[in-house]
Amino acid sequence: MTIKIVVVGSINMDLVTSVKKVPIAGETVMGETFATMPGGKGANQAVAAARLGADVSMVGCLGSDYLGDGLLEVLKKEGIQMEAVKRVEGSSGTASIILSEGDNRIIVVPGANHEMTPEWIEENRKYIEESDLLLVQLEIPLNCVQKALEIAKAANVKTILNPAPITKLSAEIIGAADYITPNEHEYQTLLEDFSTADLSAKLIVTMGDEGVLFYKDGKEVRIPAQNVPVLDTTGAGDTFNGALGVALCEQMEIEEAIRFANKAAALSITKMGAQNGMPTKDMLEQFHD
Ligand code: RIB
Repeated sequence: MTIKIVVVGSINMDLVTSVKKVPIAGETVMGETFATMPGGKGANQAVAAARLGADVSMVGCLGSDYLGDGLLEVLKKEGIQMEAVKRVEGSSGTASIILSEGDNRIIVVPGANHEMTPEWIEENRKYIEESDLLLVQLEIPLNCVQKALEIAKAANVKTILNPAPITKLSAEIIGAADYITPNEHEYQTLLEDFSTADLSAKLIVTMGDEGVLFYKDGKEVRIPAQNVPVLDTTGAGDTFNGALGVALCEQMEIEEAIRFANKAAALSITKMGAQNGMPTKDMLEQFHD
C-alpha cells in the first residue's frame, strides 16, 4: 500500500555550532564544532515520512541562493516530490542553532519561507487533495496554514498541525486540524486561548524525556520516552510528526501510532543534525531500547 503524505511547510539550512559555554551579551567564546545541515520543520517532517516509506510531496518556497540549490538537491535525493516548491528572489530560510549542555537554542530567519502565499497553495491544491494526510507547521505565514488545512478538510484528507514555533492561533485553524501536536511549552501557550476540553480529542503532547501525553475516551494516557544515548535533540519533534503521519495512514490505532512515532523520535536523537538520525522502517523494526 502506498501512503501519500503532503507537507506544506518550511525548508531551512541549519547553521549548527556546538559550544561548552553560551556567551552572554558582549562576550566572545571559542566554540567546538560547526556544520551546515539541512533542516526546517516542514522539510524535516517530509524526510521523516519519506524514510519510513511514504510517498511525500512538499509545497513550499526556497530562495534563489546557493543554500536553496543545496536544499533542493538533498530533498530530491530523499525521494521527495519538489515540484510545488517555488524558488523566490532572496535568501532561503536559515536556523542558527547553538548546541550546549545537551540542549539547543534556535534562531530561525524565515527568508523564502515567508514568501509563501495562499495563492501558491491554491495553485498546488492537487498535491493536498491527492494525499492521505497533510502535515503543516508554523514556520510559514498563518494564512497559508489556514489555506492548506481548509483544502485538506474539504477533500477529506487527514491533517496534523504541529504548532511550532507557537504563536496565537485562531479557532478556525484549531478546528480544521484532526491532530494537534504541541510540545509542553507550546501546549501551555495554546491553553491561554483554548481549554483542554476544546483540544483533547485531537491533542498529542510531546514532552521530551517525559514521553508523550494524549487523551483516550477523555482520560489522560502517558507513553514513556525511550531510553537512548542523546547526541542532538534537534528535529526530534519533526521525526515524531512525520512518523505519526505514516502510522496513522497505515491505520494504526492512536496509541500504537504514538509508540511508533516515539521510537522514531528516539532514534533520531542518537545522531547529530535534524535529519541524519531519522530512521528507515527496517531500523525502526530492529530498535529495542
Ligand atoms: O525542529 C527543528 C528545526 O527547527 C530545525 O531544523 C530548524 O531549521 C528549525 O526550523
